[in-house]
Amino acid sequence: MKIAVTSASGKLGASIVKHLVNLIGKDNVIGIARTPEKAAHLGVEIRKGDYNSREQFDAVLSGIDAVLLVSGMDTPDKRIVQHRNVIEAAKQNSVKKIVYTSIVGAEENNAFSPIVQTNRQTEKDIQNSGLEWVIGRNGIYIEPDLEYIDTYVKEGEIRNCAAEGKCTYTSREELGYAYAKMLTEDKHNNHIYNLVGNAITQKQLAEDINTVFNTNLVFKNESVEAYKAERTEALGDFMGTVIAGIYEGIKEGANDVPSDFETVTGRPHLSAIEMMEAFRKAQD
Ligand SMILES: NC(=O)c1ccc[n+]([C@@H]2O[C@H](COP(=O)([O-])OP(=O)(O)OC[C@H]3O[C@@H](n4cnc5c(N)ncnc54)[C@H](OP(=O)(O)O)[C@@H]3O)[C@@H](O)[C@H]2O)c1
Repeated sequence: MKIAVTSASGKLGASIVKHLVNLIGKDNVIGIARTPEKAAHLGVEIRKGDYNSREQFDAVLSGIDAVLLVSGMDTPDKRIVQHRNVIEAAKQNSVKKIVYTSIVGAEENNAFSPIVQTNRQTEKDIQNSGLEWVIGRNGIYIEPDLEYIDTYVKEGEIRNCAAEGKCTYTSREELGYAYAKMLTEDKHNNHIYNLVGNAITQKQLAEDINTVFNTNLVFKNESVEAYKAERTEALGDFMGTVIAGIYEGIKEGANDVPSDFETVTGRPHLSAIEMMEAFRKAQD
């Protein structure tokens, strides 16, 4: 069984490749990357595939039994077409199964919703493809917060607009394991799964970081408008607005969802503290 993983040069794609290799061996895993040299370290065959090129995907999906489509990073108007290039190429090559990395979040009411909507459209395209399918809705990665700890320490606080809202964080490592299972076990076919851990508040996030990283952070809530202004100043209009939308969604409960992780993997999702400890260990 040959399984291909798109965006293998990215952190999620690389994690899925690594877990797949553990399950089925490196000769059965193919990484697809827009920038192949960035995926060479994975030690599997790498083929070139840019989501903008249907022709490239027609060529690279030849001989593939199952493909994992990692959602793209482009603006919402471009993503649906990019994902369709992969889906149509999979159909043309008689790929049997497609697995898609979607997202948890509110389809309406915040600045992240247009991105959630594009993910929902791709979910529909995949369900209508005629292939066997599995969809994972990923929680928010915890790693970006951990990579940002030095800045949090300088500022003495974690500041955003999530208020008391709870967020079910996950990690790329946990997701990689879940997707490897979804790709290799037929019992998951035709299911949509929430791939998330326990729900915690931002206050709890700060306390857990303090426990694991020996910091002294507190959580400070800001209004959505003030936080959006701060983030767009730092990150530009598109990304700043999206980030503010994500925390507004957390505030409104969009990321407090039940988890299907144990159904998929047969074991509980790691707690936030356990994910932080694993992250710290990987940095050492
Ligand atoms: N759940 C969350 O918290 C969260 C947070 C951020 C993003 N996401 C979503 O999860 C996805 C994967 O995250 P990640 O951590 O792996 O991100 P990442 O490490 O930044 O990697 C992004 C990947 O997307 C690839 N890519 C971008 N445009 C492409 C195109 N036109 N054709 C083919 N590949 C393209 C990049 O390829 P190159 O190496 O060639 O640049 C790279 O491999 C993201 O794309 C995004 O949709 C989720």
